[in-house]
Amino acid sequence: MTVTDPLVLLDPEALAGQLAVDVRAGLLARPRTLPPKYFYDAHGSRLFDEITRLPEYYPTRAERAVLEEHADDVAAATGAQSLVELGSGTSEKTRLLLDALDRAGTLRRFVPFDVDPAILREAAAAVSAELPGVDVAPVVGDFEHHLDQLPRDPRRLVAFLGSTIGNLDPDQRAGFLAGVRSTLVDGDAFLLGTDLVKPEARLVAAYDDAQGVTAAFDKNVLTVIDRELDADFDLDDFAHRAVWVPEHERIEMRLESLRDQRVRIGALDLEIDLVAGEQIRTEISSKFRREGVERELAAAGLRLTHWWTDAPGDFALSLSVP
Ligand code: AVJ
Repeated sequence: MTVTDPLVLLDPEALAGQLAVDVRAGLLARPRTLPPKYFYDAHGSRLFDEITRLPEYYPTRAERAVLEEHADDVAAATGAQSLVELGSGTSEKTRLLLDALDRAGTLRRFVPFDVDPAILREAAAAVSAELPGVDVAPVVGDFEHHLDQLPRDPRRLVAFLGSTIGNLDPDQRAGFLAGVRSTLVDGDAFLLGTDLVKPEARLVAAYDDAQGVTAAFDKNVLTVIDRELDADFDLDDFAHRAVWVPEHERIEMRLESLRDQRVRIGALDLEIDLVAGEQIRTEISSKFRREGVERELAAAGLRLTHWWTDAPGDFALSLSVP
């Protein structure tokens, strides 16, 4: 048992302050937006977990297929001694990567990095039970702010899976990738999961499933704001929409006001008037092509060395080096 106490770069109070700032800025912006990171309270994380098992939501299964097929190739290409996983969550798919690095005999340390200390504790305990020889050193932090404070081991593999990068717009991605680049040194590598462009009908179905789980996930952000910021959003006054935006090759999730209404956000001393049909954008989920991924990595000073996809070409893992 070698789980060290988490390194805390982000305290719950800072996160709450961030929520207030982000909600005010987003609701006053045009188009109105809310940042997707606030979907994930305990209930939202459970709903997301349910999403990953929906028949329409292919990305999780597709990425797992790539890892099942190519985790040993990742291990061989990197010889990584340390795996740092950004936005690690439950680290469920990461086991495939950890097992491959363990089989290769190089793995010494696993650094799961997430905003949620509870989920980190669980993931750390599970991994250390499975791989007793591996040091587990969790870090509580936000991948948009704390990359420069990651522990530095030799031969690190930094992984960012699940196509979570798709939640960032191009400017945010450039900033994030520059941050990744600057934490890497010679001998390190970066493994990135990206969902790929595919026909609109499949994409829309993946973000607007028949059972309404994604709709509940989307609306949960309003529950979070009601609770944390003393607001009076009524979930029944909003409808979930998933829209493919071809110019940006991304899905946008939006919450559409079903009537003219005034919402009060008590903790912000803010009132927002919404007209019927007005939408709040709650998430972008960008879809990628190889050329674009390679170009964005290169712009950040990262050279693509490997590109692996599942057999149907739905999802890609790319490996790049500084
Ligand atoms: C966890 C950000 C990768 O964008 O597909 C799933 C979140 N949103 N269904 C995604 C999500 C709606 C997911 N990521």
